[in-house]
Amino acid sequence: MSGTAQIGVTGLAVMGRNLARNFARNGYTVALHNRTVARTHELVEEFGGEGHFIATESARDFVAALERPRRLVIMVKAGEATDAVIAEFAPLLETGDVIIDGGNAHFEDTRRRERELREQGIHFVGTGISGGEEGALEGPSIMPGGSEESYDSLGPMLEKISAKAEDGAPCVTHIGPDGAGHFVKMTHNGIEYADMQLIGEAYQLLRDVAGYSPAQIADIFRTWNTGRLDSYLIEITAEVLSHVDASTGKPFVDVVLDQAEQKGTGRWTVQIALDLGVPVSAIAEAVFARSVSGHADLRDASRHLTGPTARRLGADEAAAFADQVEQALYASKIVAYTQGFHEIAAGSERYDWNIDLGKVASIWRGGCIIRAAFLDRITSAYEARPRLPSLLADKGFAEEIAAAQGDWRTVTATAVTRGVPTPAFAATLAYYDSLRADRLPAALTQGQRDYFGAHTYHRTDREGTFHTLWGGDRTEVES
Ligand code: 6PG
Repeated sequence: MSGTAQIGVTGLAVMGRNLARNFARNGYTVALHNRTVARTHELVEEFGGEGHFIATESARDFVAALERPRRLVIMVKAGEATDAVIAEFAPLLETGDVIIDGGNAHFEDTRRRERELREQGIHFVGTGISGGEEGALEGPSIMPGGSEESYDSLGPMLEKISAKAEDGAPCVTHIGPDGAGHFVKMTHNGIEYADMQLIGEAYQLLRDVAGYSPAQIADIFRTWNTGRLDSYLIEITAEVLSHVDASTGKPFVDVVLDQAEQKGTGRWTVQIALDLGVPVSAIAEAVFARSVSGHADLRDASRHLTGPTARRLGADEAAAFADQVEQALYASKIVAYTQGFHEIAAGSERYDWNIDLGKVASIWRGGCIIRAAFLDRITSAYEARPRLPSLLADKGFAEEIAAAQGDWRTVTATAVTRGVPTPAFAATLAYYDSLRADRLPAALTQGQRDYFGAHTYHRTDREGTFHTLWGGDRTEVES
């Protein structure tokens, strides 16, 4: 016997609940399940008018409520809870059914789950969903992995509930097999960390060097949001900066403890980049910046350290400096995205996912946290050259960075001389300079390695692997 619900959602905390409502609002009959049954009934009581829901109280009833092939979305905490839910439902499913994991799972877990369930004839779709609570309800950006066949059955529904870009295109695409969707979501979050850190550094410079108040900086961000930096993160930054704390009358940003937390996806992005050998310095600096901020003990113990005291600029200089910060932010942002896309390309190659990078940029145009006008440019760059080795190899981006780099350097140098920490501005600029350098000190590193460990080196003028007899007469031998 098969039920009538086209989709089921188990795990009805805020993300699951909003996703279920989104499906229902789009005309699908949605089966509901939650460990605490009361939450299921609450959803129906509160939002039952939005569409067709089937409230169920047991795993068996939930599965029975679904039409075949069954499509069952798991919205529980990533990790052991996901494995527990899969273990509960998989025995009740049949060949061809689809389990969708919409949490922020580690892509290696997704690869394992996909493999195990495939052996049982069940499709497992690890899918990234970005956009927070509001996105889940109004239309998120969706990054599903898994088999082609599962996308055939699920894709049209995801297209319906997803965000739509300005041109009306749904912000979802089949990313690739097994863990590809969660890998792309992980990198999305890594880029999100870098973007947020860069914005934070711009804010701090505008505050400490230019001397602007949070409300004035909010206005600057609003202006930037009408140009090439137009993005959700810039928009909400202006909102946060202009918010005033009701109980003290102070800017909200001044009453929040300056210790940033993280759930882990940014850290994963860096860990995986290290494994893949991909330099994602902007993301790494963003993760480390959160980590430094959280070391209250270390920061307390360092209050005696000296440095330049920030000298505020005059009003005219401040306005010119703000323009320079915009240039620096844009150039750094291009580098951060360049690094993130490099990681996706490397993951795709390592795991044979065949990810369409231009398509990834295009489904991030709506719904997700890093949605931005600028993503259109990335899509065009990959459309023009699908095998583009780096976004910096795109003529348009290279020209924009060339135009911004004078200010980028001035801003970064100003931060250094005035003692304002800007790790992500500095790291992105160093990455840019490393790529364009004629010679890097890596030759010296190789010499040192050969000296202390006979690790050998290659020469610029001949093929082969060489070692110098450093402890002897320093002749060179071929090894
Ligand atoms: C999204 C967000 C979402 C979430 C992250 C941020 O795309 O909707 O990225 O996944 O807000 O968990 O997490 P941190 O707590 O690590 O900043």
